[in-house]
Amino acid sequence: MFIKRKRGWEIPESEATPEAVFHDRRKLVQAMGLGVIAASATPGFIAAAGAATSAPDPTADLYPAKRNETFTLDRPLTAEKDATTYNNFYEFGTDKDIYQEAQALPIRPWQVKFDGMVEKEMTVDIDDLIRKMPLEERLYRHRCVEAWSMAVPWTGFPMKALVEFAKPKASAKYVRMETFSDAKFAPGFKQFWYPWPYVEGLTMAEATNDLAFIGTGIYGHPMPRQNGAPLRLVTPWKYGFKSIKSIVKITFTDQRPVSYWEKLQAKEYGFWANVNPEVPHPRWSQASERVLGTGERKPTLIWNGYGDFVAGLYDGLKSERLFV
Ligand code: MTE
Repeated sequence: MFIKRKRGWEIPESEATPEAVFHDRRKLVQAMGLGVIAASATPGFIAAAGAATSAPDPTADLYPAKRNETFTLDRPLTAEKDATTYNNFYEFGTDKDIYQEAQALPIRPWQVKFDGMVEKEMTVDIDDLIRKMPLEERLYRHRCVEAWSMAVPWTGFPMKALVEFAKPKASAKYVRMETFSDAKFAPGFKQFWYPWPYVEGLTMAEATNDLAFIGTGIYGHPMPRQNGAPLRLVTPWKYGFKSIKSIVKITFTDQRPVSYWEKLQAKEYGFWANVNPEVPHPRWSQASERVLGTGERKPTLIWNGYGDFVAGLYDGLKSERLFV
């Protein structure tokens, strides 16, 4: 069979994954005679969304946090409105404009469980956790595998501080993270062909690298739900799908976690997923990116421009699919 591979700038974003996986799955489900399940929000759902939004954030006094000037940008910051209304959060739907649906997510009370290869398993209240961590602001580029990018002021803390807090055993090799999976609040779970819950993983060396960050806020205030409140990963040298949102469980393990996208389509979304303009996605180029807000096309940089921080992590791993 002849398959024409279009270049990145020739494909509409709806064809870029993750959406493309969705459409493939939809065909599969139709072929199975099951039909498509509508996942759009009902008016009642939106009303509940309004109720969930109104509670004040108990950590609001911690923002804005002091900026860490080590991390500089080569481009202007993305407008807050663009970064908060153009999102990927499949639990709330496969479109980019899920920000209203996401308001239904109750983010207090919220607990995070630490388990697996740790000295002692524990479940921690989010506000206690955030107050124990060294909050700072960092300006990072963010590159989605779909070939769009943004530049965001994240507030949060080094993931290294979280790992130290969890006290993993020396035998732990990976950190596995999991998103909430309460179907009551998120219509995406009705799309049963997706491998819920959303899971991601890092090696211990990646998780304790200086660049790995846990986000609790953006633009000088607590994290909006659509961007992954109350706690999300930020790994700017990797494609954005690694940056798991709304984390409820952190497990230390010696088994390499199989992430959500890897489970769906391992050939297209591997464990490492480091940014590299020279390694195309099987269905489009990664050579350049569309800057959110301005539409400008910029050449993509290897490691998304963060090679000084992270390239050394992969020295002994050349046989791995580091860029897929
Ligand atoms: N985390 C969860 N739980 N669910 C998701 O669908 N999407 C990922 C990532 N984290 C996703 C997720 C993808 S594909 C991207 S590009 C980023 O979140 C988008 O983050 P943003 O919406 O804050 O830009």
